[in-house]
Amino acid sequence: ADLAHMEDLARPLVELADKLRGRGLEKDVAIPQIAVVGDQSSGKSSVLEAISGIPFPRGSGLVTRCATELRMQSAERFLARAYTTAARDAVATLTTVAAVECAIAQLTEELCSEQGFSAESIVIQLAAPNIPNLTVIDLPGIVRTTTAGQSRSVMQQVDGLLRSYMKQPRTIMLVLVPSNQDVATVGGLELAAEHDPEGVRTMGVLTKPDLINPGAEREAVAVLLNETKPLKLGYVMVKNRSHRDIANDMSLANAHAAEVAYFDEHCLFGALDRALFTVANLKQRLSALLVARIRAELPRMRAEIDEKLAAARADLVRLGPGFERCSPEEKAAAMVERINAYSACVAGSANGRYSEWL
Ligand code: GDP
Ligand code: MG
Ligand code: NA
Repeated sequence: ADLAHMEDLARPLVELADKLRGRGLEKDVAIPQIAVVGDQSSGKSSVLEAISGIPFPRGSGLVTRCATELRMQSAERFLARAYTTAARDAVATLTTVAAVECAIAQLTEELCSEQGFSAESIVIQLAAPNIPNLTVIDLPGIVRTTTAGQSRSVMQQVDGLLRSYMKQPRTIMLVLVPSNQDVATVGGLELAAEHDPEGVRTMGVLTKPDLINPGAEREAVAVLLNETKPLKLGYVMVKNRSHRDIANDMSLANAHAAEVAYFDEHCLFGALDRALFTVANLKQRLSALLVARIRAELPRMRAEIDEKLAAARADLVRLGPGFERCSPEEKAAAMVERINAYSACVAGSANGRYSEWL
């Protein structure tokens, strides 16, 4: 009942943030959001599909080289909409999971096929049972080496895109950390630390616990317990389908059951706090975190909007009255006067800034 109540409170806040982002407000005022970052093959798609129930296109063919905004809303019936920010009016309405999977592949093709990269995003609005009220932004995997078919310029464009999200002060970074890898070498953590040195807006997701070398589990536990690389938002460990599970057509529902059983029965993990494990707990924590951030930041966002609005109004006043009521002759004269004033200003100052003219 508590959880249901929390979800009721969550929805309007998450919707508000989505609407503000949909209107392009994030160019002026930072909006709280969750961005998912990780090295290629760190398990990003697997985590997102476990959270949303939508299989993300994977493997061979086109790799994602643009951001995908996944807006989730719990509902009784399944309904999805898909479009890109390059063509906001071309909205596809989708009624099956398979259709969404196809749409993601198709939109990726449209946006990214020519350059291999796009600064525009794919937006998926998803209403379905058993999903959280949560919006996450899936960013392209970090490209660290130029391999065949990946040009240097694509690497730089991806890097720039990742940074543009990570430097935004209200973005929570969800960093994928393969449990079988030394944390010191995890690209996402390195990049997150650059933008959030104190780790106040970074959360870690430990993936692939079943691939840890026997005997090395304690190192992963130390990371999970926030001892090795402490983050204020901590870590959650999840187990997703392996390459073989997918080849064997294991369903997401079966994968979920297998995940719970794996952690419950594990000799080390089984003895730790249950809240540290599983996608279900990750979902819940993310949802609560996003809602708390939106709620906490709203007053400051409002103040920033008021400030920008006041500045824009002041600029309007300094521009002088409009020409609506002028006769054509008066209009022409007034325009010439302004152009002259502007030219004088440009000639008189080294950089000719617009604000000096005003
Ligand atoms: P992405 O490139 O970061 O999106 O990574 P993917 O989600 O595509 O995962 C890369 C590979 O790792 C796939 O073959 C997954 O099946 C596999 N994988 C992901 N998570 C796990 C896990 O928890 N355990 C195991 N054994 N394999 C995993
Ligand atoms: Mg992927
Ligand atoms: Na991606």
